[in-house]
Amino acid sequence: MRTLVIGIDSGTQSTKALVVDVKDGKVLAAATESYDLIEGLPAGAKEQNPSDWIEAVRKSIQRAMAESGASAAEVKAIGVSGQQHGFVPLDKEGKVIRPAKLWCDTSTAAECLEITEKLGGLEGAIQELGNAVLPGFTAGKILWLKKHEPENYKKLATVLLPHDYINYRLTGRAVMEYGDASGTALFNVRTRSWSAKTLAAIDDELFNKLPSLIPSNQPAGTLSSEAAAVLGLNKGTLVSAGGGDNMMGAIGTGNTSEGVITASLGTSGTIYACAEKPVIDPRGEIAAFCDSTNRWLPLLCTMNVTVATGMVADFFKWSIAKLDEMVATAKPGAGGLLLLPYLEGERTPNVPNGTGVFFGASTKTLTQENMARAAMEGVTLGMNYGLLRLAELGVQPTQIRATGGGSKSAVWRQIMADIFNAEVVTLKVSEGAAYGAAIQAFWCYENSIGRAIAIEELSDHFISLNEEERSEPKAENVAIYEELQALQNELSQSLRPAFELHSKLLAPAAAKE
Ligand code: XUL
Repeated sequence: MRTLVIGIDSGTQSTKALVVDVKDGKVLAAATESYDLIEGLPAGAKEQNPSDWIEAVRKSIQRAMAESGASAAEVKAIGVSGQQHGFVPLDKEGKVIRPAKLWCDTSTAAECLEITEKLGGLEGAIQELGNAVLPGFTAGKILWLKKHEPENYKKLATVLLPHDYINYRLTGRAVMEYGDASGTALFNVRTRSWSAKTLAAIDDELFNKLPSLIPSNQPAGTLSSEAAAVLGLNKGTLVSAGGGDNMMGAIGTGNTSEGVITASLGTSGTIYACAEKPVIDPRGEIAAFCDSTNRWLPLLCTMNVTVATGMVADFFKWSIAKLDEMVATAKPGAGGLLLLPYLEGERTPNVPNGTGVFFGASTKTLTQENMARAAMEGVTLGMNYGLLRLAELGVQPTQIRATGGGSKSAVWRQIMADIFNAEVVTLKVSEGAAYGAAIQAFWCYENSIGRAIAIEELSDHFISLNEEERSEPKAENVAIYEELQALQNELSQSLRPAFELHSKLLAPAAAKE
């Protein structure tokens, strides 16, 4: 009988399930189920119904299992990766009180400021948590609920993150592992414990609403009879700790020892590296997260990647292949058109009220090709802002492993190599987060049956690079992009007062909608 594991990645746009044979790491079957954000919410609010994730987990597991021809008995463990930071509020019966506010929700800037002030400003927050308190993170969302929906807040019994909620529905146990917990901004990444001072800044009772913390090599639990019956799997199947999608992406791209850097280009853009000790940014721009292998994961996150390229493609009614073709037609520098890509506001740099700006528009520059290229370049320059900051903190790239939707494009990989000024490679399995979840599940299973094994050994065994998809930086393009980076940074800084004004002018209009 084969030994199989299932890796789930519950993302912002879809959930993927992979059935993996641990003998050689082969993906036997993969299934994806898509869903949307809730429509018609006020500006900055980004929410989803957790029941949509659960339905997508069910359907994607069932489809992948059917396609793989696997039997329930062959599946030894399941691992779940989820979008980080979302706030899933449960009442005392374990029911979801209201939709989850997501990582990309920027409506909690005022609450984040309030918590930050109580911690003694940015410096105090960094000292207490290792991280700034940013609207993307969970802490501000909890205070937001208390202030804006006191009736709902009264019902709050348990705070969970998206992947914790899926684990809870699979196992009946509410726990939180270190990696995802480090993104709550309630957690001291140095001591791996809740920060009493931050909890008190929100609610004196908050500690009682937080689940127990577990290390990342421990199981979250085992499949309950109810979940097993729904999924067609065996009761008692191990469910590993799981983790945030970036933590799982680190495992799934072999980023489990120092020296490797992963760039994930999806709805969000992230760049991260495994570290043996916390990497703390005094400016709070690089997040000092824990990873999901009991180490640390300094991470840069921008909120605008495929959202910008997708917007241009939708605008001109292009397929993704057509978008790539148009990008390749334009020259590096997009003829002088530059995108400041803050379409959804931005986290790094922290400009929650930011908007997108096409700069350099003229009758000559504003062509379809240039708009396509400027979108791809602009979001990659946005990520590079954080990569440069990571380098200042001592995390220097020589090779970047690219994953996520954007990594599938050859022209984008070349733009990445030229902007990041580093070799860019891809991996044989492009679904880094779901694959990482499968590997973590196997790691946990091996540990549970007394075969203690280092996660690096497993990732070395499972992961191989896609040699045909290697891009090297071209010196002439590197020079162009260095200049564009300086211009984009300048635009970002100088437009901040205008963004503030714009959001004030827009607020009354948005409230009327
Ligand atoms: C990282 C972050 C995003 C989400 C996307 O801090 O907020 O990458 O995890 O799902």
